[in-house]
Amino acid sequence: MLPYFPFGDRFNDKMGTRPISESEPLVEVDGHYQTETDLKRRLLGEYINYYYQAQPGHETAQWDVLALILQNLVRFSPGQFSLTTNGNRWQWHNALLNETTDFIFDDASTLPHDPLDWVGRQVQEDLVLLAGNDARLVAGQLCFGNGWCLDEKIGLPFWDIHAPITPIVEPMMQAAQTLMTRLPVGRPVWRLNWSVKVTDQLDMTNRHTPALDRLLADTLPTLTPATIGEKLFIRIERQTLTRLPRSGAVLFGIHTYQNLLAHEAANPERAAGMKRVFETTPAAMIAYKSMAGFLPTLLTYLEMQAKPAP
Ligand code: HEM
Repeated sequence: MLPYFPFGDRFNDKMGTRPISESEPLVEVDGHYQTETDLKRRLLGEYINYYYQAQPGHETAQWDVLALILQNLVRFSPGQFSLTTNGNRWQWHNALLNETTDFIFDDASTLPHDPLDWVGRQVQEDLVLLAGNDARLVAGQLCFGNGWCLDEKIGLPFWDIHAPITPIVEPMMQAAQTLMTRLPVGRPVWRLNWSVKVTDQLDMTNRHTPALDRLLADTLPTLTPATIGEKLFIRIERQTLTRLPRSGAVLFGIHTYQNLLAHEAANPERAAGMKRVFETTPAAMIAYKSMAGFLPTLLTYLEMQAKPAP
């Protein structure tokens, strides 16, 4: 089952942000840790300039991210990670990957990769940095982007990043823009995003869009209420926003979770929640999320699943 389930009474046209409390982790480690960090490292090894990009001038923010994430990992998973510091001399031990790294904090020449790129290889999350009054995307390690990539968005302000969807949910994006400028240090927030996909391939960055569009087109004729549960996947993003202490930049973290539709819809309450949300989602958003071709079949299936067994 998905650890988060953003399907309640109806389509949520609000930002849906909530505070991350002291007892909640910023980054989450689950049973897919090994596979997902391996996949990230393979993608970065093959196409570093596609999956990792950084504009100059944001080195302090990168170190802010590194410190925040390592301290968070140690705090919430002390058996798996340890950090020993002696002034600026830090030693990181990752028992899950059996790796030890010694480096000097704030000295990038002592790490094998840029600090953001290095720390991104320790977590399942995609990590994106936004800075300045208009929250421009200044750096990121984005391996599992859902229909976007760094080439397309680097350097853009928050508002322009969302250009394709702003007309659909403008009040939500106005509120999000305000949040980006006013988010205080020490008050991180999180929200959920959802989509319905034809594969559980994690890397859905733009270079895969033509193949994914073809796969969807080829699958559509095979979708019936009897088959759809085994062919589609629910994809959830746990998104976090944290203002960084020294640089004032904002870290946007994205942890992607997925599950087969049938596994989620086996629970009648979950099936009913998904049905309520999908049937109240504006048509333009359904089209944006590439769900128009299968929505009627999906709703019929969810209605069947939502009925309690006789
Ligand atoms: C409270 C903050 C945010 C809200 C309310 C928000 C909301 C949304 C919504 C509603 C979508 C449409 C996609 C969907 O629902 O599946 C979207 C897409 C997207 N968001 Fe955000 N978002 C937020 C923060 C961010 C941040 C900080 C970034 C930084 C990079 C970002 C990057 C994107 C991108 C790249 C897309 C896809 C746009 C495209 O299709 O070109 N979002 N966002």
